Amino acid sequence: MEQTQTDNYLKMLSLHRIREIYIKEAENAANTNLSYQEYLHRLVEQQVLSKIERSINRKTQLACFPQIKRLEEFDFSFQPKINEKLIRELATLEFMNDSKNILFIGAPGVGKTHLAISIGIKATQARKRVLFYTAEQLTQQLAAAEVSGRLAKMLDLMTRIDLLIIDELGYLSLTRQTAKLFFQLISKRYERGSVIVTSNKPFEQWGEIFNDDVVAAAILDRLLHHSYPFLINGKSFRLKTINK
Ligand SMILES: Nc1ncnc2c1ncn2[C@@H]1O[C@H](COP(=O)(O)OP(=O)(O)OP(=O)(O)O)[C@@H](O)[C@H]1O
Ligand SMILES: [Mg+2]
Repeated sequence: MEQTQTDNYLKMLSLHRIREIYIKEAENAANTNLSYQEYLHRLVEQQVLSKIERSINRKTQLACFPQIKRLEEFDFSFQPKINEKLIRELATLEFMNDSKNILFIGAPGVGKTHLAISIGIKATQARKRVLFYTAEQLTQQLAAAEVSGRLAKMLDLMTRIDLLIIDELGYLSLTRQTAKLFFQLISKRYERGSVIVTSNKPFEQWGEIFNDDVVAAAILDRLLHHSYPFLINGKSFRLKTINK
């Protein structure tokens, strides 16, 4: 009876983790002579850990990563041109405190998306708000928001995100109109929040992506100002097995 009531109270207080473990932990405490205080501490600690874990999972879901790729899975020996030390430093997320950007430029398969997602995951683990878009999805959403009169709202929301990842810039070129929307976004985030961009096109060719040299220069200027550009000229990991 008493136990059922305790269960109910814990449920009312949404202390689900404690509800799951308090009986087992009490047995454990009795067996190991834990003090009442230590017992309570263990319960509260487990509840806090479970809350953090749920928050991280939620943040990771909301980030819309296309796959989960971890830095620990990245084989730096396969891509020796990448400055591993710098990547590991960036994974501490210090760059986000200064709203700095990261640019991964290189041919298909060199690991741009993998690295972008890995750093994004580090950010969600630190409970930062992250959004992953392909450049195509992003420009489509910006264009749709403009048509329906929600552009200002969408730009505001994008400014409040802690880390914005824009993948595959350059595989499809933008129209002049969407290039302008893209510029507005980059301009709004400039010095306010970090952006990670991946592109297969070297900076000299960004005029082609945006169909407008002036807009491209203005976007690049803002992205590069406080940034870590990585020019990855290595082999494709996708072709690794084929080349063996
Ligand atoms: N150095 C690496 N170590 C481990 N896995 C890697 C490495 N480089 C790439 N991969 C893997 O190879 C595949 C292709 O990498 P990724 O998607 O990051 O390439 P990309 O540079 O984004 O290419 P694209 O320009 O075609 O989008 C992914 O499954 C990725 O996890
Ligand atoms: Mg990619």
